[in-house]
Amino acid sequence: MRRIAILGSTGSIGRSTLSVVESYPQRFQIVSLAAGRNVDAAFEQVKRWKPSIVSVAAEADADVLRARLKIAALEDIEVVHGSEGAVRVATHPEADFVVSAIVGVAGLQATYEAVRAGKTIGLANKECMVAAGELIAAEARRQGNPILPIDSEHNAVHQCLRAGKIDEVHGIWLTASGGPFLHTPKSHFASITIAQALKHPTWQMGKRITIDSATLMNKGFEVIEACRLFNLPPHKIKVVVHPQSTVHSMVEFVDGSILAQFSVTDMRLPILYALTYPERVSSDLRFPVMDLRHLEFIPPDVEKFPCLGLAYEAADAGGAKSVALNAADEVAVAAFLDGSIRFDQIPRVIKEVLNETNAIKLESIGDVLGSDRQARELSRDVVERLGGAKALRPASNASTRG
Ligand SMILES: NC(=O)c1ccc[n+]([C@@H]2O[C@H](COP(=O)([O-])OP(=O)(O)OC[C@H]3O[C@@H](n4cnc5c(N)ncnc54)[C@H](OP(=O)(O)O)[C@@H]3O)[C@@H](O)[C@H]2O)c1
Repeated sequence: MRRIAILGSTGSIGRSTLSVVESYPQRFQIVSLAAGRNVDAAFEQVKRWKPSIVSVAAEADADVLRARLKIAALEDIEVVHGSEGAVRVATHPEADFVVSAIVGVAGLQATYEAVRAGKTIGLANKECMVAAGELIAAEARRQGNPILPIDSEHNAVHQCLRAGKIDEVHGIWLTASGGPFLHTPKSHFASITIAQALKHPTWQMGKRITIDSATLMNKGFEVIEACRLFNLPPHKIKVVVHPQSTVHSMVEFVDGSILAQFSVTDMRLPILYALTYPERVSSDLRFPVMDLRHLEFIPPDVEKFPCLGLAYEAADAGGAKSVALNAADEVAVAAFLDGSIRFDQIPRVIKEVLNETNAIKLESIGDVLGSDRQARELSRDVVERLGGAKALRPASNASTRG
């Protein structure tokens, strides 16, 4: 029986994880849950799964949830809040597997503490690998516990890597759907609306990752995530646009063999793989092989999607530049969703912040969080300059939410 903590249980990945757990009651048990602001969803999940402990982002929401659980005669379930609450959920002594699916750097501390506590991690939260992947991966190696990628591309790579050794890898090909603007001329980018950008052609996901997919920053993050997870330099990670999102990624070995993983575009499959690794269990997530007739692979247009180039720059530099990349993107995406800046201004914010950030090596999660705060402050200044009155200046460093 795998005993599971879910960070971000009310989000898209969190809900898909619970759906997998629901399908295999003999294999999995829910021990602890962490949500953000969706108290109604958290309440329903607690009623259904009866974890030992649940966390929400804000103290006031924790009070509301506690009161509702009392009325439902579930007052034994401990309710906590904030990043400390998420850490309690992630490090609960009964949990042996932590699904990291809080969006943004808000999930960093809990994920890192889970690794430190010796838990096996199912990693969806790529932003924490972008900001602190060097530290997280080093700690996981020290603990001797795997980080199992849930992100479909890295999950595919993980599967393909079982066919060879890491020093036999010539390169990794991360596939990208190309997002909704693959065929949109760059001259139209200034007038892209929020609704258009939130319409992903192949995946249903939270808002932040959907916008990141539209700018190709998501793929840039994945390049960094792959470097940190598989301990490979950025030049070994290549991106290829594959609009059908059928081939989830490929590994090219030194002898010239290329292994690819393909399957349905359903996140329950990589989640199931991570939760049951190293076993494979039977599922009904079948892929119609005849669909392989229509596969395209196109080089990415880095002129049209400058975020990809910015991510390679940050991947090479690591440290504070990677932190700044994520923080600036998080602020810029929130500002776009808020109507403060235009779609084509997202890469501009990130570029300015990267240019003003020195490539400093960061030695601790405290350093990362400090650097993250600075980069956010800088990003908000740039957003205000570009977007004027509506630009955000929140008190907390809470992430963009779906
Ligand atoms: N969705 C996908 O298919 C997919 C694929 C690959 C990787 N990922 C990665 O997985 C992560 C989650 O993505 P998603 O699509 O599931 O996002 P989402 O639907 O927006 O869900 C985000 C989750 O994080 C929680 N959250 C946000 N801010 C929080 C805070 N300050 N404290 C505690 N919890 C907080 C949200 O809680 P509330 O809703 O309760 O506010 C929600 O449970 C992201 O890093 C994304 O890049 C997602």
